[in-house]
Amino acid sequence: MRLPPLPSRPSSMGIPEAGDFDIDGEANRLMERIGQRLRWTYEACKTIAPLTLRINQLKQEEDVIIIAHTYQTPDIVYGVADAVGDSYTLSKIARDAPQSTILFSSVRFMAETAKILSPQKRVIHPSPEAGCSLSEGISASDVRALKSIYPNAPVACYINTTAAVKAECDVCVTSSNYLTIAENLPGDEIIFVPDRLMGLHLKKHLEGKKTVHLHDADCEVHAAFSSTSIQRQRKEANRRGLELKVLAHPECDSDVLEASDFVGSSERILVEAKRLGAQDGVAVMMITECGTAERAIAESSAPIELMGSCSMCRHMKRTHLEDILQAIESPAGDQIVEIEDSIIERARLSLDQMFKLSET
Ligand code: 13P
Ligand code: SF4
Repeated sequence: MRLPPLPSRPSSMGIPEAGDFDIDGEANRLMERIGQRLRWTYEACKTIAPLTLRINQLKQEEDVIIIAHTYQTPDIVYGVADAVGDSYTLSKIARDAPQSTILFSSVRFMAETAKILSPQKRVIHPSPEAGCSLSEGISASDVRALKSIYPNAPVACYINTTAAVKAECDVCVTSSNYLTIAENLPGDEIIFVPDRLMGLHLKKHLEGKKTVHLHDADCEVHAAFSSTSIQRQRKEANRRGLELKVLAHPECDSDVLEASDFVGSSERILVEAKRLGAQDGVAVMMITECGTAERAIAESSAPIELMGSCSMCRHMKRTHLEDILQAIESPAGDQIVEIEDSIIERARLSLDQMFKLSET
């Protein structure tokens, strides 16, 4: 499988002095944890070791937890993150973290979600410009317009939305719970926003039970996958005498989901890939962002046979170790997440409703 290039280091920011740090030990730890010795070589790891060591030192001194989404680069995931996962898991971690500061290495809507769930904490987002085609694809007034057309339908909004959009919804959902939460909502109709492709998957799941009203936005990464590559890889696996298991994220188009063996969140895809990859004669194709494949490689106890290619989310990949260091040392105004109290209060209700419905 072709993996993305190593992150290019922003030249404007310096690497901290090595000082008393054990650079050699840290470089070896990083190389071991990332598990891609031919790409993340000792030399590459040695270059970033002063950064990871300094960030980890500052975390202790300043009572900071670093939460990173799976799609972040391996130097962040294995170098400095205290928690890594999908958006549902990370929301719960942000809600319950004992530290006084949360640094969220990911896209903006996830950092905003952390602020809604922990308003008393300082939430730092190193890359304020890191957006998401889904959260930018809908506004609070779009939701209000849908509610006026379908006044009796509860509104479920995907977590990939701004705080203002969450404030208009009845319940928030993620890729790990949208089917069950939507199914269990009262009534025979539902407004589901903003992901049209995930909404079509939901529509199919609720056929004959509920009418689903959709909005038109999609994930620029997952919407671009096609079922043709699945067919090609199945033929190739067959030729090599391998059984191919295809695992896809629900933000993909319906033809991709139908051609797949498993549909789930980034974390569920990872767990399934590790389980299947450990079986003899099985190859795995992960239809999602490249970070999931990099975690599967790092966290599998034996080499895993990965087929096909992954795609990079340009928003998720905006954050570098240098940005994290700068944001902990001296966060700029827009790196500190601030949300109006009235929006926090209303958006919090939709997230609390999600936790209640997913854990009962
Ligand atoms: P997950 O919750 O599955 O990690 O999805 C988040 C996301 O942005 C997928 O593109
Ligand atoms: Fe948004 Fe898609 Fe990137 Fe996820 S992968 S953050 S949904 S653009």
